[in-house]
Amino acid sequence: MSVQTDVRAADPAIADAIRASEVRFTGFGKTFGTGEAAHTVLADVDFAAAPGEIISILGASGCGKSTLLRAAGGLGPATAGTVTIDGTPVTGIDGRAAVAFQEPRLLPWRTVRRNIELGLPRGTPKAAARDAVDELLELTGMSTKGELRPKQISGGMAQRVSLARALARNPGVLLLDEPFGALDALTRIKMQDLLLDIHRQRPATVLLVTHDVDEALQLSDRIVVLGRRPSEDDGPSTITSIVPVPGQRPRDRADSGLGHLRAELLAHLGVDTHAAAGARSASD
Ligand SMILES: Nc1ncnc2c1ncn2[C@@H]1O[C@H](COP(=O)(O)OP(=O)(O)O)[C@@H](O)[C@H]1O
Ligand SMILES: [Mg+2]
Repeated sequence: MSVQTDVRAADPAIADAIRASEVRFTGFGKTFGTGEAAHTVLADVDFAAAPGEIISILGASGCGKSTLLRAAGGLGPATAGTVTIDGTPVTGIDGRAAVAFQEPRLLPWRTVRRNIELGLPRGTPKAAARDAVDELLELTGMSTKGELRPKQISGGMAQRVSLARALARNPGVLLLDEPFGALDALTRIKMQDLLLDIHRQRPATVLLVTHDVDEALQLSDRIVVLGRRPSEDDGPSTITSIVPVPGQRPRDRADSGLGHLRAELLAHLGVDTHAAAGARSASD
C-alpha cells in the first residue's frame, strides 16, 4: 500500500469521502411516454454492484444502456421498481454519483483547471478547491495543462478533464457512458489503463457502459449483458446474463484465456465469431 493511501486513510473525512457505494436495481423498469405512445425500454432489471466493483454494461445500440445509467445518476427516474445507492433511493441528481459521457462536455471559455472546478461541491473554500484540482490534475496526468482551454487539448486529454471533473466530488459511484467511444484505438487503451489507475487510488464503484467487448473484459469484475428476451423480440430489454471476468486487474491484453468469454459475449450481442472467422478465411 502506498504512503499516500495510508495518509488518506488516516484522515477520517477523506477516508469517508472516498468510500465506494453499493448500487442496486430492484425490479427496475423504464417506460417513456404514456398511453398509446408508451414505450417500455427496460423491465425487470435486478442487479447489485458491490462497493468498489467495476461493472460493464454491454448491449446492442438502443437496448437501454444509457437509460439504465441515467437512472442511477438521478437523470431519469425509474417508472417501475427502484434504484438505490447504499440502500437509499435515487430520486434526482445527488452527490453520491457522478457521470461522464462520450462527449467531454467542457465549457470552451474556461481553462482545464476551471472546468474541473465545476465538479467540486458548491461552496468549497478557495484553498481547498485549489488543492483538490491540483490533485485531480495529477491523478489524470494533466498537471502541466491546467491553464489550457479545451480547444488547445486533444480528445483524449478532454476526456481526462471530464473524468477529473466527475471525480471532483469524490463520488461513491462513477457512471461512465461510453467514455472512450470517440477516441482512437491507442488513446482508448491508454485511457483504460488510466481508469484502472484512478480506480486503484479512488476505488469508487464504477458502472461503465460500453459496446466494446474487449474493453469490458479488460476493465470489469463482472459484465452485465442487456438484451431482449428471446421470446419477445420487440419487448423491453432486461439482463440476459451476468458474466464474471476471471483474474485480477490489470489483465494482460494478450491473454488468450479470455478468448472463450469474448466469443460468448459476442454471441450474446448476436455476433457469430465462427461465421466471422469463416468469412475471413474464405476471402483470403
Ligand atoms: N428521453 C427519451 N424519450 C423517449 N425515448 C427515449 C428517451 N431516451 C431514450 N429513449 C429510447 O430508449 C431506447 C434506449 O435508449 P438508450 O438507453 O439511449 O440506448 P443505448 O444507450 O443502449 O444505445 C431507445 O429506443 C431510445 O429511443
Ligand atoms: Mg447510449
